[in-house]
Amino acid sequence: MPTPQRSVLRLALTLLAASATPLATCAADSVWLTDLDLTQLHFAGWRKPTIVQPSAAAPAPAPKGKAPAATPTLKIAGRTFDRGVGTFVTSALWLELDGRAERFEAMVGVDDSAADKQAAVIFSIIGDEKKLWDSGVIARGAAARKVDVPLAGVRSLLLKIECATEPKPNHFADWAEARFAFAGERPRTVRVPREEAVILTPAASAAPRLNGPRVYGCRPGNPFLYRIPTTGERPMTFAAEGLPPTLTLDAARGLITGTAPARGTFAVTLRARNARGEATRPFKIVSGSTLALTPPMGWNHWYAHYNRITDAMMREAADIMVRTGMADVGYAYVSIDDCWSNIPDSPAAQAKRPDPARVGPARDAQGNILTNRHFPDMRALTEHIHAHGLKAGIYTSPGPLTCAGFAASYEHEEQDARQFAAWGFDFLKYDWCSYGRIVPGDATLAARQKPYRQMGSLVERLPRDVVFNLCQYGHGNVWEWGEAVGGQCWRTADDLGGHLSSLFDVALKNAEHRAWSRPGAWNDPDYVQIGWIGDARGGGEPQPCPMTPTGQYSFMSLWALMAAPIFYSGDLTHLDAFTLNVLCNPEVIDIDQDPLGESARVVKLTRDTFLMIKTLDDGSKAVGLGNRGDVPVEITAKWSDLDVTGPQRVRDVWRQRDLGVSDTAYRARVPRHGVVLLRMATAK
Ligand code: GLA
Repeated sequence: MPTPQRSVLRLALTLLAASATPLATCAADSVWLTDLDLTQLHFAGWRKPTIVQPSAAAPAPAPKGKAPAATPTLKIAGRTFDRGVGTFVTSALWLELDGRAERFEAMVGVDDSAADKQAAVIFSIIGDEKKLWDSGVIARGAAARKVDVPLAGVRSLLLKIECATEPKPNHFADWAEARFAFAGERPRTVRVPREEAVILTPAASAAPRLNGPRVYGCRPGNPFLYRIPTTGERPMTFAAEGLPPTLTLDAARGLITGTAPARGTFAVTLRARNARGEATRPFKIVSGSTLALTPPMGWNHWYAHYNRITDAMMREAADIMVRTGMADVGYAYVSIDDCWSNIPDSPAAQAKRPDPARVGPARDAQGNILTNRHFPDMRALTEHIHAHGLKAGIYTSPGPLTCAGFAASYEHEEQDARQFAAWGFDFLKYDWCSYGRIVPGDATLAARQKPYRQMGSLVERLPRDVVFNLCQYGHGNVWEWGEAVGGQCWRTADDLGGHLSSLFDVALKNAEHRAWSRPGAWNDPDYVQIGWIGDARGGGEPQPCPMTPTGQYSFMSLWALMAAPIFYSGDLTHLDAFTLNVLCNPEVIDIDQDPLGESARVVKLTRDTFLMIKTLDDGSKAVGLGNRGDVPVEITAKWSDLDVTGPQRVRDVWRQRDLGVSDTAYRARVPRHGVVLLRMATAK
C-alpha cells in the first residue's frame, strides 16, 4: 500500500509534470535522476546499482511458500530514502545538457549497507571539465549531505563517487532524492562524454620499419615459427644474418621457421628492403628454458565474443590481424578463451538454455577432451593461424569446469596439456574457476599453487614452446611465485572487463608489483579493451567501448609503460582507423617490448596525477604524465622527480615528434584520464 506521504508526493509530481509540458519554454521542469536511463552508469564490482522509486516500494506479492522479496531501499545514517540510486564505488554517470539546466539537487552519503565499517567516499560534480562541487570525505554513518549545484550554461556533466580509502574496496554510496531542474531539453545520460577521436600518429612510412621484439626466447629442439613484424610497402625482401643453421628464412614473407637451436644466444640482424628503402634491426634469439623474453602480444576473443566464439571467427581474426597490419607491429598470438569445449549436459545446464551446439560430453572414451561443434577441427584451426606466421592460444581451468561452465582439465591435466600441444597451440591460459570446489578458500598457499605448479611443469616439458599464462586474479601474490611455477605471465587482479572506469586504479595497483617484472615474467593487468567490445557484465554483442578516445590512448600508454602483455580483446571486424592507430604505434610498442623488461616506477602520485618512468635498454627513459582525474591539469615532470640529470631530448611518442631539449623539467597539459607518453634521452 502506498503511504499517504508517497501519494501526496506522487500527486505533486503529476501536477508538476502536467503543468510543465505546455510551459516548458518559460518555467523550470524537473526530472528525477531515477527517471533517466541509468544503464549508462559506470560502476565498480558486479553488484548492480540499487534504483529506488516510490512505485517500487510496494513489493510484488511473494509466490506461495516463498518469503516476500526485499524492498530495495537506500539508507544513509539510519535515514531511509524512497528515491535515488545506490551504487558501488567508483561510479560515474555522464550527462549531456543543453546549457539550460538550472540545478542539480540531491542528498548524498555512504549507504548503511556498505559492508566495510570504515567505508568513506567523495562525491564530486564536474561540469564542462570544471569541478562544480566536491563533498570532501564522507564516512559511513555520517548524516546525508545536501547537494544543490547551479548548472546554468553547463553542457557536459559528470556525477562521480570515488573511494576515499586506500585500498579501495567496493563501497556502496547513494545519490538520494537526486533531481534536475531544467528549462530546455531534459538531461540525457550518455555512456561517455563527447570527444573527437583524433588520430595522433602519422601513417607508417612506405619504407620498411622492422618492429616487434629485439630478443626472443625458445626451447632447444622445439618447432620454431617467427613472423618478422615489418611495416612498409610490399613487395619486400627479408634477410636474417647470423641465423642458426636449424632455422630458415622465407625471404619473401619474412617468416623464420625450423627447429630451435641447441642452447645458446644467437645475435641475428634482420633486414628488410623494398622499393622505398631498407631497414635493419638486431634480433637476439636465446635458446634455453625461458620463453616470452618480451611481453606476449596478440588478440584474445573474450571481451568481444564471449560464448559466441567459433572456429570461423578465430580464423577470421588471424586474417584480419595480417590484413590490418597488426601483425606487422608485433601482434602474434590469436587466442581462444573460454567456450570451445562442451558444456556437460545436465538439467542445471539446460536451465540456462545454452546453445545446443556447445552442449555434449566432456571427453571421449579415452578421456580426451572434446571440442564443441563450433570447433570441428582444432588442428586445422592452428594450421590456419600458423600459415600466417602467427601463433595460437587456448584456455582451460584446473577445475572440472571453466568460468563459463564448460569442460575443463581437472584430473586430466597431462592428457590435456599433450592434447593442446598436439593440436598445435602455443599459449595456454589457465584459469581458476571451479577449482575453488577442489580446495577451500582458506586452503594453504601451497594447495592453491598446486594446480599451477603441476600444469607449469607439464607445459615446460611439451615438445612445443607453449607460453603459460596464470589467470587466478592475483591470489596469494601470484607475482611472487608465478615464475617459479613455470608461468611467463599472470593476471594481477580480477577481470577488468566491465570496470573500465577503474582503469587507472588497476594500472597503478599492477605497477606496484614491478619488482617481479622481467624478461620471461610479466604482470598481466588483463586485456586491452578499446574500439568495439562486448558488454562484460552481460556478455553482450560488441559496441563502442565506454571510454573516451583519450582514455583509449591511456590504456595503451599504461600497458606499454608497465611492460604488460598486450592482448587486444575487442571486435576485429569493427576495427576503424582510430582503434588501429591506438593499437599499432610501433614506438609505443617498442616501449612495451623493450628488452630490459622493466615495468615503470611511479615516482609521484597525487590524488589525480602521477608520474611514471621506465628505463629502456638503450639508456633512454619512457615517461608517463598521467591524469586520472576528471578535469584537465598541467603536470610538470621535473628531472629531479624522475631521477634524471642534464638536458634531455624529449619525444612525443604518440605523435612520433621530437619536442626539443629541456634542461630541468617538461610541463604538459594533460586531459582528463590522459597520459602524455614521452621518450627522453640525455642530450649530447
Ligand atoms: C575469467 C577470466 C576471464 C575469462 C573468463 C572466461 O573470468 O578472468 O579472462 O577467461 O573467465 O569465462
